[in-house]
Amino acid sequence: MTIRRQTRRRILQSILASPLLAGLGTTIKAFAQDADASITAADQALDVFDFERVARERLPPAHFGYLATGVDGDETLHANRAGFANYSLRVRRMVDLSKIDMSVDLFGTTWDSPIVLDPVGSQRAFHPDGELAVARAARSRKHLQILSTVASNAVEDVTKARGAPIWYQLYPTDQWAVTQALVSRAKAAGCPVLVLTVDLQGGTNRVTLGHAIRRDTRDCTACHVSKPPQFLQELPRKPMFRGLDTSAVTDMTPLDMNWDFVKRLRDIWPRKLVVKGIVTREDGELAVEHGVDGLVVSNHGGRGEDSGRASIDSLQEVAAGVSGRMPILVDGGIRRGSDIFKALALGATAVAIGRPYIWGLASFGQEGVEKVLDILRGELLTAMRQAGTRSITEIDRSFVVDNRQ
Ligand SMILES: Cc1cc2nc3c(=O)[nH]c(=O)nc-3n(C[C@H](O)[C@H](O)[C@H](O)COP(=O)(O)O)c2cc1C
Repeated sequence: MTIRRQTRRRILQSILASPLLAGLGTTIKAFAQDADASITAADQALDVFDFERVARERLPPAHFGYLATGVDGDETLHANRAGFANYSLRVRRMVDLSKIDMSVDLFGTTWDSPIVLDPVGSQRAFHPDGELAVARAARSRKHLQILSTVASNAVEDVTKARGAPIWYQLYPTDQWAVTQALVSRAKAAGCPVLVLTVDLQGGTNRVTLGHAIRRDTRDCTACHVSKPPQFLQELPRKPMFRGLDTSAVTDMTPLDMNWDFVKRLRDIWPRKLVVKGIVTREDGELAVEHGVDGLVVSNHGGRGEDSGRASIDSLQEVAAGVSGRMPILVDGGIRRGSDIFKALALGATAVAIGRPYIWGLASFGQEGVEKVLDILRGELLTAMRQAGTRSITEIDRSFVVDNRQ
């Protein structure tokens, strides 16, 4: 986005410099300023990137860095976005488009749209109302919300603000007693689905975040235990960990976690179990074998490994491995309705978004999140109409072309 703006600015500057256009200078200057101006209200946004700019301006450097960071050289982060350009839409004409149905079914619940709000930790770092504002937006726009283990609001409060059950994302930690406590709390709060995140096992190296923390001159210890904040030291302050003994926790995901862990989890979680972070066909097949109910194809928004592989590229092979035996969500780099359309065509049942709704939250709270959802739903509707598809189930592989083949 920054590159696009810089290019636009350079083009406008060269136009302004042209002697031929000297008389038009004032008009063009006004246009140049307008093109560069940030939006000041949610309803001015033209696409989700309008919120990214405001979020960057409003958030302290370290908080924006936490949101923006990938790992190592951010290769996977960039690949996630660039990956969508490898696919083009193959559209059909002369279809009756008077009725478009965007609804999807996930474990017996029908959602108005296939757009899900991904678990994103510590949302009060982006807006004082954090996950509660997101829940209110999800409620008003009828979207599914997944709450992070490291949320800055508790599952009971977020469920209340959402006014309906939410899914709960689990970082089990390496202490089984803590896992059990988190799971029973999610169960008691009425969460119908537990989402086990498996893509951070082994740790991450968030270089962009490190640079952002260095640039931030504020005293972090006003809110955090230390500067730079140490994740595990912060745990006792997180609502889902209050009252739990976290002194023995050394990792959010046990280093020895394997498919047996899913069996163990099954014994304490009788409801639906989704695994988040699968990116290969083999693991998709293993998930089916181990009785998992659903998957999120995800590389954690480029925050896990720096494989340089786009999430949208992983989707097809995972879908082939699963072969319709369970629902598959996909996330990573989804910013436009056409991205959502491509993901659905390549085998996703639904899609999830992370950073875009947080840009909305950081910019204008609940209204910002609502507008992000409105924009993406509107863009998907347009993409579906333009492609000649009247329902989500009609969107299949025939509607996209892989430009590399
Ligand atoms: C700031 C931030 C915090 C995140 N926290 C969590 C988390 O607590 N649990 C989790 O499973 N995924 C977490 N994720 C990953 C998202 O759920 C999701 O996989 C990712 O953001 C999707 O990519 P996108 O941001 O490009 O849409 C986080 C992502 C970001 C950007």
